[in-house]
Amino acid sequence: MRCVLAGGSGFLGRALYAELITRGHEVVVLTRGAARDDGGVRFMTWPGEDAPGDWQTELDGAGAIINLAGSGIADKRWTDARKADLRESRVLTTRALVAAIRKATNRPAVFLSSSAVGFYGPQDDKGPELDEAAPPGSDFLSSLASDWEAEAHAATALGCRVIILRTGIVLDRRAGALAKMIPPFQFFVGGPIGSGRQVMSWIHLRDWVALVVWLLEHPTAAGAFNGTAPNPSTNAEFSKALGAALGRPSWLPVPGVALKILVGEMAGPALLAGQRVVPRRALDAGFSFQYTNITTAMADAVR
Ligand SMILES: NC(=O)c1ccc[n+]([C@@H]2O[C@H](COP(=O)([O-])OP(=O)(O)OC[C@H]3O[C@@H](n4cnc5c(N)ncnc54)[C@H](OP(=O)(O)O)[C@@H]3O)[C@@H](O)[C@H]2O)c1
Repeated sequence: MRCVLAGGSGFLGRALYAELITRGHEVVVLTRGAARDDGGVRFMTWPGEDAPGDWQTELDGAGAIINLAGSGIADKRWTDARKADLRESRVLTTRALVAAIRKATNRPAVFLSSSAVGFYGPQDDKGPELDEAAPPGSDFLSSLASDWEAEAHAATALGCRVIILRTGIVLDRRAGALAKMIPPFQFFVGGPIGSGRQVMSWIHLRDWVALVVWLLEHPTAAGAFNGTAPNPSTNAEFSKALGAALGRPSWLPVPGVALKILVGEMAGPALLAGQRVVPRRALDAGFSFQYTNITTAMADAVR
């Protein structure tokens, strides 16, 4: 089938389209960059908003639309302008995709749209497990995720099977959070952040890709799914596993107060607090995770 990946040029998109191609699917990536053919993938320019263009016709007759577009949550300090960009790059892109689906003569069967575990809001380390039935939080990331998800849900009324994937921290040494965390450890200054007790909900990149493919191919899968491994870990366990995988110590704590000065508001929800998220719906539906233990997952992810 033809799979259209909006924002598919990034970390998760590249890993996903490699797997989709291996499985014999046709892949079209919607990018704000130049149109090109690259390694069996057709990159098509889109504006990231509801503006007419050839990109809209790509959605007509496609088997699946996968929405991964959005500017990087931890790339820059959260000024008001940056927060607006984080929101618009998700809400307006998703709205544009749904508008294009509405115009299509042959609407795609599946619309999988990314979300994040930030949906649940920051939780203290003694908080309960959060499955997909847990309510949203009330901080910036929660309201961003809620609005983002609401835009995607609008495709249900258009006859699409809508899947929302609330992804956790995806483990791979080449990109994402781990790529940012590895250098301090390599220079022997890695360690837990703040108290180290905050819970981190992670998933190995290979499991994330397998879960997306499984959700696309599983005809009854619809609604919200947590894209996290079954066993979240504390930040201290996560740091220890990273240090062990790199053959480096992991004892130098990063004080919360320094982090707040360094990165501002983002430090709270993104680094000093966490959430104990569990993939209840994927497990109940029979999805099998390859990586369930942080030590094993980390050893493979940084290899
Ligand atoms: N990686 C994780 O651990 C993680 C965890 C939770 C949720 N997520 C979510 O999953 C999605 C994909 O993550 P990722 O790690 O692959 O991110 P990424 O590497 O930053 O890729 C996101 C893509 O979105 C596009 N994009 C960026 N700003 C945009 C804008 N203003 N308008 C339209 N498109 C824009 C870019 O494509 P072009 O430049 O080609 O247009 C970029 O390649 C994101 O929405 C992210 O929030 C990721």
